Amino acid sequence: MSLLIDILFFMAALFITVIGMVVLFLFFVYLHDRLQTRNAIYRNYPVLGHMRYILKELGVFFRSYFFAADREELPFNRFQREFVNNMADNKGGVIAFGSGYNLHDDSSISFANSFYPTLTEDVMHVRAVTFGSDTPNPYTTESYFNISGTSYGSMSSNAIFALSRGAKLAGAWHNTGEGGFSHYHEKGGADTVFQIGTANYGVRGENGALDYDKLTQLASKEQIVMFEIKLSQGAKPGKGGILPGNKVTSEIAKTRGIPEGQDSISPNRREDVGNGDELAELIARVKQATGKPVGIKFVLGRPQDLDEIFKSFKKHNVYPSFITLDGADGGTGAAPAALMDHVGMLLDRSLPALMHALEAHGLREQIPVCASGKLITPADIAWALAEGAVAVNSARGPMFALGCIQALQCDKNTCPTGITTHNKRLMRGLNPKVKSQRVANYITNTKKQVGYIAHATGAACARSIAKDRVIRKSHTS
Ligand SMILES: Cc1cc2nc3c(=O)[nH]c(=O)nc-3n(C[C@H](O)[C@H](O)[C@H](O)COP(=O)(O)O)c2cc1C
Repeated sequence: MSLLIDILFFMAALFITVIGMVVLFLFFVYLHDRLQTRNAIYRNYPVLGHMRYILKELGVFFRSYFFAADREELPFNRFQREFVNNMADNKGGVIAFGSGYNLHDDSSISFANSFYPTLTEDVMHVRAVTFGSDTPNPYTTESYFNISGTSYGSMSSNAIFALSRGAKLAGAWHNTGEGGFSHYHEKGGADTVFQIGTANYGVRGENGALDYDKLTQLASKEQIVMFEIKLSQGAKPGKGGILPGNKVTSEIAKTRGIPEGQDSISPNRREDVGNGDELAELIARVKQATGKPVGIKFVLGRPQDLDEIFKSFKKHNVYPSFITLDGADGGTGAAPAALMDHVGMLLDRSLPALMHALEAHGLREQIPVCASGKLITPADIAWALAEGAVAVNSARGPMFALGCIQALQCDKNTCPTGITTHNKRLMRGLNPKVKSQRVANYITNTKKQVGYIAHATGAACARSIAKDRVIRKSHTS
């Protein structure tokens, strides 16, 4: 009995102590809030004012899980993310009862079906495309849905390995992004497009200039099938890559050729390219050093700006082996909001404009176009192919297949799914073997659905969808 009383006394004392400590803590918060001068809400509503900020943080998650409609969120809505998940899980992509897609919305995409859809027996292999037939090592591929550049640095080693392996399993190519070619790309084994960013990461000389010997060495690797000179990307035209110092590990520093732990900021543009002539000369030098196809990547600002570079290509008789056109709503690991939200043309307008300009300059056949920028569902991909792109590249589609939940923390090294972090504990969540298969499934199953659209329009393959089969209400290009 006395033991029971002792225990009750102890519990009561513990309870009073805890309550006392909480009251003391709140008293100190009260004092802090009243005395500080930076925040008016805290000063006027001490203690209680903190609820506003706590709820603001939590609101992001509550909205996403409970309140946002399926087709409402940005940058990608739940329907799009679930679509990728289903494709990655090998779930059929079949829905019932009726479409939840707002076909009456001005920006909806639909295609004109044919009276005579392609018979299953008449379905053709996808038409192959050859890049860089003027180089000693052209690259020929049927693949039209590939993985866009996301640098090793912005992405974890597990993510890079899983993307490369996933691309290999699906027969797609994988772009390195501007962070260089790492051991993880090599281990993944996909056909790789090496991106030469504005800071020349991975192919830097002593002073940061492009080292052509390093380029030649890289080109000797069979796995590297093409090179891409990055002029700009959709999320941040006029700004180079931004990798915060806490993400610059020793391995990333070595792969890029930069000091460890320091912010890795690449220049706003290539220092050696200030006009069309210099661009043509650079393409020629990189082709010479690598012997492989060399393309360029940019986001378009004004269609008339294309005239200057196309004239230079003709003057020098040097042509990029492809153009990768990125849309203004492309993604990134980190970018200033002012650029992400307000600079560059969206693909809806820039892709038709680029195709038109190529046609006008007689370069349509000579320079194949790859398109990127929120093209992650079959209709978006089919639209870009019908507009004239020979391939579509996606970064965030495959990232969703890796398990991305759109936590929007790519710049913070705290990605909860281990994709854009180098925190070992978080990276453990990303099993490259499982996720690479999901990436491959996503690519393969999505292409199957692009095929359904192609066949409904009477085309024999995805690369043959006729442009006049696109019904796009917002833009009549
Ligand atoms: C985390 C992340 C890192 C990226 N890194 C690069 C890069 O290094 N170089 C580049 O040209 N684009 C980079 N991008 C842009 C993508 O390659 C792509 O152009 C853009 O996101 C549009 O494709 P999407 O809408 O399918 O993601 C990055 C995108 C993301 C999300």
